[in-house]
Amino acid sequence: MKLLVCGGAGYVGSHCVRRLLAGGHEVVVFDNLCAGHREAVPASAGFVEGDLADADLLRRTLDGGGFDGALHFAAFLNVGESVNVPLKYYRNNVANTLNLLEALEASGVRRIVFSSTCAVYGEPPEMPIREDLPKNPINPYGTTKLAVEWMLRDACAAWGLGAVALRYFNAAGASADGVIGEDHDPEIHLIPLVLQVALGQREKIFIFGTDYPTPDGTCIRDYVHVEDLAEAHLRAIEGVAPGRFEAFNVGTGRGNSVREIIAAAREVTGHAIPAEETDRRPGDPPMLYAAPDKIGARFDWAPRYTEVRETIATAWAWHRANPRGFGK
Ligand SMILES: NC(=O)c1ccc[n+]([C@@H]2O[C@H](COP(=O)([O-])OP(=O)(O)OC[C@H]3O[C@@H](n4cnc5c(N)ncnc54)[C@H](O)[C@@H]3O)[C@@H](O)[C@H]2O)c1
Repeated sequence: MKLLVCGGAGYVGSHCVRRLLAGGHEVVVFDNLCAGHREAVPASAGFVEGDLADADLLRRTLDGGGFDGALHFAAFLNVGESVNVPLKYYRNNVANTLNLLEALEASGVRRIVFSSTCAVYGEPPEMPIREDLPKNPINPYGTTKLAVEWMLRDACAAWGLGAVALRYFNAAGASADGVIGEDHDPEIHLIPLVLQVALGQREKIFIFGTDYPTPDGTCIRDYVHVEDLAEAHLRAIEGVAPGRFEAFNVGTGRGNSVREIIAAAREVTGHAIPAEETDRRPGDPPMLYAAPDKIGARFDWAPRYTEVRETIATAWAWHRANPRGFGK
């Protein structure tokens, strides 16, 4: 297939681009590089430097381009920022996705895989999280992703779009061959922050809250390897059902606490990684981990990385070899 990958220069998108190419697909990345890295996109992929706000450029890219489908990673994803500047998130995550869907409709493209998030569930009443639990996002980031899911659902019903929303838990790790990895600025994710301490780029790691109702008192999350996410995207785009909207959790089904992540990173890096315990942050649910059975049954997908230490080891290999990320 010929596939348009919006946000394909970003962390998850670039790992997916490599998997799609290896799977024999033709890929064109559409990215404005506001957070992505041109260096993360393989030379064998086409590249359009453009913003999803630019509806004309989207149409020109898609019209007559012979595309069979799209994968949509482009978004803002800083939860804290979304609380303070919500309309920035509605503009990029919702309004710009509307541009993309209109361009897909106009150019006859009827297949899309969308990057959703476990944030659509908010603070779920039970664990593990199944797809049919209530969707009650507790921040604008999660609300914008749920809004896009609804747009997709309605577009599927109206004009035959086939859409898969993949609700990722915490993406983590780097490509096993060490070629690409995670480089966000500012960095907001636990594993790269911990590894920055090991690299001497940060003095210590903060543990926000040690009195949660979890076995060791710290928050529990489900860390899914970015190459397992890439495999899920390949299977989803190949298996999209015409005219249907489907949503799937993508996680390992296992949770790891903040203390466990720090302990695993100490083992992997051999560094002491000093930690400081401090107050809870507002809006951090104690525990989030997936029931990934639905995607397993539908796309025969299962995570290959089930031990978080292995996931951290791939991240460490990338960060150690690329202490300045892609060099910006
Ligand atoms: N990283 C995670 O743990 C995680 C978890 C759940 C969901 N997600 C979702 O997965 C997707 C990818 O996350 P990521 O960590 O790779 O983020 P990222 O910031 O690394 O990648 C996003 C990419 O989109 C591009 N982009 C953003 N706005 C754009 C626009 N208007 N036009 C063109 N390009 C634009 C950026 O330049 C970047 O390359 C996001 O939609 C995010 O909400 C991520």
